[in-house]
Amino acid sequence: MKVLITGANGMVGKNILEHSAIQKWQILAPSRSEMNLSDRKATEDYLKKNKPDFVIHTAGRVGGIQANIKHPVAFLSENVDINQNLILSCQSVGIKKILNLGSSCMYPCRAQNPLKESMILQGELEPTNEGYALAKIMAQRLCEYIMREDSEFQYKTLIPCNLYGRHDKFAAEHSHLVPAIISKVFQAKKNNLSDVEIWGTGEARREFMYAGDLADCIIKCINDFSAIPNLMNVGLGHDYSVNEYYRAVAEVVGYQGQFKHDLTKPVGMQQKLVSIEKLNNWGWKSQTSLHAGIEKAYHYFLSLQER
Ligand SMILES: NC(=O)c1ccc[n+]([C@@H]2O[C@H](COP(=O)([O-])OP(=O)(O)OC[C@H]3O[C@@H](n4cnc5c(N)ncnc54)[C@H](OP(=O)(O)O)[C@@H]3O)[C@@H](O)[C@H]2O)c1
Repeated sequence: MKVLITGANGMVGKNILEHSAIQKWQILAPSRSEMNLSDRKATEDYLKKNKPDFVIHTAGRVGGIQANIKHPVAFLSENVDINQNLILSCQSVGIKKILNLGSSCMYPCRAQNPLKESMILQGELEPTNEGYALAKIMAQRLCEYIMREDSEFQYKTLIPCNLYGRHDKFAAEHSHLVPAIISKVFQAKKNNLSDVEIWGTGEARREFMYAGDLADCIIKCINDFSAIPNLMNVGLGHDYSVNEYYRAVAEVVGYQGQFKHDLTKPVGMQQKLVSIEKLNNWGWKSQTSLHAGIEKAYHYFLSLQER
């Protein structure tokens, strides 16, 4: 079987490529210049030429809160184009299986936790990343409509919780919470700072999975594709407070200073925890502990400093 990974150069894509079991399939991992998903014709031409049997769709314009607030037009329009070009090109070329990646920002911001798949479109989205979330919802619904029109097509969507790990982005403009904490605490240790600032009380809760674990789940999805639900969350089943993430990173980095809370700063949603009922029923569980995952991410971060 030929498996195409879009976004193979990104964090999720590289973690899939690093998984030991991926070698049993023939892998297509085109760069953006080989298959520019913003270009419908280039996308269709690549698919016609290479004829994958299975597509894992991870490509997109992805960014942290700052980037989303600054560039809402790009996050909406680029992602709508990328998703539509990929999904409709797969349909027109006759590719029957897509595993599409969504994101937990697809859930309404005031939905009750844990977030169940049926809650999508049941309320307003978080305003800071609404454009990105709309493009993700559009892609999931497009996949669902294609399956509804023709049951030969199996275009399914996973909704991973937040991710961190090897190949993450650590620059402030692009980073999510965990890589941002790693970078901040590392700098504090290097510069002998006595304290590190945390926005708000640090009591807001977040669910972060080690990206290698998501890759493991994706491998199982390829092996057992007909058994997975059309839409399924991939989460840990539990979350941690922002303070706990800081403490875990400080332990791994060996930072002995204090944490100081700036209560004037915004903190976002109090909790964002996805339901793993469907995931449990299907039979997969994340294996990497927070400490072990942060250690691996930190070693990757250190390897970047040495380059
Ligand atoms: N990171 C998370 O915490 C998280 C959580 C939940 C869900 N997800 C989902 O997982 C997926 C992958 O995320 P990630 O963290 O791996 O993102 P990432 O590291 O930013 O990777 C995105 C990839 O998409 C590629 N890409 C962007 N525009 C493209 C285009 N026009 N044509 C072809 N390729 C293009 C990028 O190519 P270049 O290398 O050329 O830029 C990059 O390789 C996304 O769908 C995201 O929503 C991520």
